[in-house]
Amino acid sequence: MNEDINLTVTSDPPLDDHGQPFRIRSFIRRQGRMTVAQKKALEELWPRYGLSLNDPTMGNAVVSRDIPIVLEIGFGNGESLLSMAEAHPECAYIGIEVHLPGVGHLLHRAGELNLQNLKVYADDAIDVLHQAIKDQSLDRVQLFFPDPWHKKRHHKRRIVNADFLELLHQKIKPGGQFHAATDWEPYALEMADVLKAARGFTPTTADGSPFNERPDYRPLTKFERRGQRLGHGVWDLIWSRQ
Ligand SMILES: C[S@@+](CC[C@H](N)C(=O)[O-])C[C@H]1O[C@@H](n2cnc3c(N)ncnc32)[C@H](O)[C@@H]1O
Repeated sequence: MNEDINLTVTSDPPLDDHGQPFRIRSFIRRQGRMTVAQKKALEELWPRYGLSLNDPTMGNAVVSRDIPIVLEIGFGNGESLLSMAEAHPECAYIGIEVHLPGVGHLLHRAGELNLQNLKVYADDAIDVLHQAIKDQSLDRVQLFFPDPWHKKRHHKRRIVNADFLELLHQKIKPGGQFHAATDWEPYALEMADVLKAARGFTPTTADGSPFNERPDYRPLTKFERRGQRLGHGVWDLIWSRQ
């Protein structure tokens, strides 16, 4: 996945009065404590797995090999992404996460598993999509358990909104998919509404319902298993890009 990769800058994010990208972000950078293993993995494995928006020679965003490309936004500690990349060597996975201990954790495990089909950005996913992902190049975009931003005054931070879906529409191939999952029902309902209103997305369910059964390819996380034991719901939304 390394040598045959190319970068295409396709569009620019909006700028504020100082020429800086302006937007309300869907995350607050947390320092978080990093274990020795995570720090070591970041130092040693970043050259192998990392992609950078700032270094054009490393901006190897999209594989040109003709295999499906799955992009996961906000992979956390990478539990799901790692097992999917391991189970599906026929696909290329690009993970994006701003929380560095999580990135360190993923790199550590990716190295142990010797994964060949994974690349990682430690940047805001919106910047990555704007600056480093070719139009109509992604087969699937995954967004598992995005920060729900429970309080009303924080809803504007929720990553799924009309602009986000417009950007995904630009980057996903026709016939590709957007797959979101959440355990917060109000956010699930909001996602369904925003998807219905968006241009060029349709549900993949037989009856047109916005919600799907969890597909086998999405592993159950530890957190989700605990939620299941407590009787909490999870909503998967798998929508097709027209
Ligand atoms: C609630 S956690 C879920 C993590 C993981 N997907 C899981 O299921 O366990 C949401 C993650 O998304 C990340 N995140 C939020 N907005 C992001 C953005 N714009 N770009 C990259 N990562 C983001 C956060 O740092 C956080 O780790």
